[in-house]
Amino acid sequence: MNAQEIIDIENKYTSGTYTKQPLVIVRGQGASLFDTDGVEYLDCSSGHGVANLGHAHPKIAEAIYKQASTLITLFETFPNDKRAELMQKITSLVDGLDRVFLCNSGTEAVEAAIKFARISTGRTNIVAAMRAFHGRTYGALSATFNKKYRDGFGPLVPGFSHVAYNKIEALDEAVTDETAALILEVVQGEGGVHPITAEYIQAARRICDERGALLIVDEIQTGFGRTGKMFAIQHFDMTPDLLTCAKSLAGGVPMGAVLIGENVKNLTPGVHATTFGGNPLSCAAAVAALGVMEEDDLPRQALVKGAYMMDKLREIDAPNIREVRGLGLMIGIEMKQKVTPYLKALQEKKIIALNAGMTVLRLLPPLVITYEQIDHVVNVLTEVLTAEQ
Ligand SMILES: Cc1ncc(COP(=O)(O)O)c(C=O)c1O
Repeated sequence: MNAQEIIDIENKYTSGTYTKQPLVIVRGQGASLFDTDGVEYLDCSSGHGVANLGHAHPKIAEAIYKQASTLITLFETFPNDKRAELMQKITSLVDGLDRVFLCNSGTEAVEAAIKFARISTGRTNIVAAMRAFHGRTYGALSATFNKKYRDGFGPLVPGFSHVAYNKIEALDEAVTDETAALILEVVQGEGGVHPITAEYIQAARRICDERGALLIVDEIQTGFGRTGKMFAIQHFDMTPDLLTCAKSLAGGVPMGAVLIGENVKNLTPGVHATTFGGNPLSCAAAVAALGVMEEDDLPRQALVKGAYMMDKLREIDAPNIREVRGLGLMIGIEMKQKVTPYLKALQEKKIIALNAGMTVLRLLPPLVITYEQIDHVVNVLTEVLTAEQ
């Protein structure tokens, strides 16, 4: 099949829920993607923040191959060597979060966290932030703020409200002794790459403690080294009660997880489950991925490379740039106009990037991106952002 035939087939059979690019990607290597003609693209999207380790990592490929020829599936009622290894490893990453629920995606991790908060506290109300994105299934969608994701799907789950992000007074009013949980992203990703302030996250912890509400931190986009620490909360001296993660957890194999603290009660057999949760294949991939993250110190790479890249981006002299912000290799360039034409121009110059809302250009490159590749991205961005679009 040639590229056009592939595009035609997808366009014919797709559900229609995705905006399709006219570009067929068939292979990846490190921070690069390749089309059907072998043309190389620099990936500054990581498949929406998944490929932190880069594409086609040999240690992930090997782990998947070995486990696929040993045991792919096993319901969590039966213990398994790879699952046990992963559970031990992932709960060692954050002090105070010593249990884990394994699932298959980000939105499912958020669903589980919301259910755990309700069953634990006996309360129903969930407070989320304005601009928040937590996923597209009903609980997670109800916590998501933007109407663009919610419109047409009502009625959503009752009991959800939204409060201004990084505004302590508003939070103090919104979280009450009827609140089951407050859910927050440490850097709002889809909402425009907005980092949380230290004062706000500390206040969130204090307010939740005072009112008996649980604090859920959604690290689905910020987790696994992306912001320069294994988890973004580790930039602050704060432990949530529940931490959701997914995306790069298993090196690209679909997997989600909820890390659980001691304040979370009533998680008894039958309360929650999912068929594929903790399947040995994903667990083996995740054990390998976490191993690579530690051996290659990917969080540190993100911290240093992110600071380098952000400094260079801040030097771009383009009147249309409003602000460059972010944490580690999670970077947003807020423009004074819509970013779609810039993204298109970048793709023509063989760089794949993302938007975050209408006016923010988002860069989530694999953490293994090289300095040479960063310099190239910055040079092309300089060209594109200073040109008339
Ligand atoms: C912060 C956050 N939460 C939840 C999700 C949903 O994850 P998934 O697409 O795996 O369901 C995303 C996805 O982008 C996310 O960025």
